[in-house]
Amino acid sequence: MAHQRIAVIPGDGIGPEVARIGVRLLESLGLPLQLEWFDFGADRYLKDGTILPTGFMETLRRDFAAVYFGAVGDPRVPGNEHAKGILLAMRFELDLYINLRPCVLFDDRLSPLKGKGRQELRFTVFRENTEGLYTSTGGNFKKGTPDEIAQEVEINTRKGVERIIEAAFDYAEKRGLKRVCMADKANVLLFGHGLWRRVFAEVSKRHPQIQAKAMYVDALAMDLIRQPEAYDVIVTNNLFGDILTDLGAALTGGLGIAASGNIHPGQVSLFEPVHGSAPDIAGKGKANPLAMALSGAMMLEHLGHADAAARLQRAVEEQIRSGSRTPDLVPMLGGPAATTEQVGEELLKCLSSTR
Ligand SMILES: NC(=O)c1ccc[n+]([C@@H]2O[C@H](COP(=O)([O-])OP(=O)(O)OC[C@H]3O[C@@H](n4cnc5c(N)ncnc54)[C@H](O)[C@@H]3O)[C@@H](O)[C@H]2O)c1
Repeated sequence: MAHQRIAVIPGDGIGPEVARIGVRLLESLGLPLQLEWFDFGADRYLKDGTILPTGFMETLRRDFAAVYFGAVGDPRVPGNEHAKGILLAMRFELDLYINLRPCVLFDDRLSPLKGKGRQELRFTVFRENTEGLYTSTGGNFKKGTPDEIAQEVEINTRKGVERIIEAAFDYAEKRGLKRVCMADKANVLLFGHGLWRRVFAEVSKRHPQIQAKAMYVDALAMDLIRQPEAYDVIVTNNLFGDILTDLGAALTGGLGIAASGNIHPGQVSLFEPVHGSAPDIAGKGKANPLAMALSGAMMLEHLGHADAAARLQRAVEEQIRSGSRTPDLVPMLGGPAATTEQVGEELLKCLSSTR
């Protein structure tokens, strides 16, 4: 098998701290991967003005199988323009329309919900990643005056809506999952979310063996706390997906464990922890490397290395069960707290003994 080239972009803050560990884990698996580091982020931007060099997207599209991404965001860059130019640009220009976010509990002790454990908390969110309210379509009129008007336009294309809904059903079908739920606000957002409802009804007819249900997002947010076991796959737009997956992260151990993929099937795709650059803990050895490790497992699965992906996930589960933990998990698992490096070293050992 030819080597698959992976662009590693650690980014800012805790990004490099967790990426270092993620890459060591991937390297230890002995797979035909070629991991190549890129220094895009706030330091580089402040040094020479580079956000992403010209032609970089084309290089990614042509030569790379995936991007393994840490996090971007730095208080030294007002407005974080470099972060938008790096991460949002890759999501949009590489047309990474599926934001895949599993909300899976790895250990009952991480659940904040009484009586809900591993059996109950295992849903996956398909968030539309290239449209909705995230396209910066809109503007200000009479800005800065008492008569100011601000407009933010939600973009919903038939093509965009159909492909994310189809992807959710396809995922459920391939994994033998029984239920797909769509979250919208079609009772008030009549035009855009009316389109989502119509397309959802059409696509669900093509998958008669899957139970399809459309819900208002507010009702779903409530029900995810009440009975998370009622959900296997959730599909939704960009904004609602953003919010629901933070809720999902909180239900399954927090941002330190939440992993994600930004995917265009058959094309270069990007895998990253859900968390940001966490400037409050950067450089203090407190960052949890598990979200980065699990994002690596998602990337391996996407690249066709299912066995290695499962091994890496088992190692993380074992680490949570019996290894040490960073401070974010201490309230749930108990102390004492260990550093990012200590957890990383243990995880590497766990992985080498996991088959
Ligand atoms: N994908 C991304 O790159 C991404 C995502 C979200 C935020 N950001 C950026 O990151 C910066 C900080 O944003 P924020 O504070 O809102 O979100 P954040 O995710 O960086 O941090 C939120 C809280 O969670 C904690 N946390 C996050 N990751 C952790 C980990 N691995 N281990 C332990 N604790 C962890 C942080 O310490 C902080 O208290 C901002 O510049 C923001 O724009 C980037």
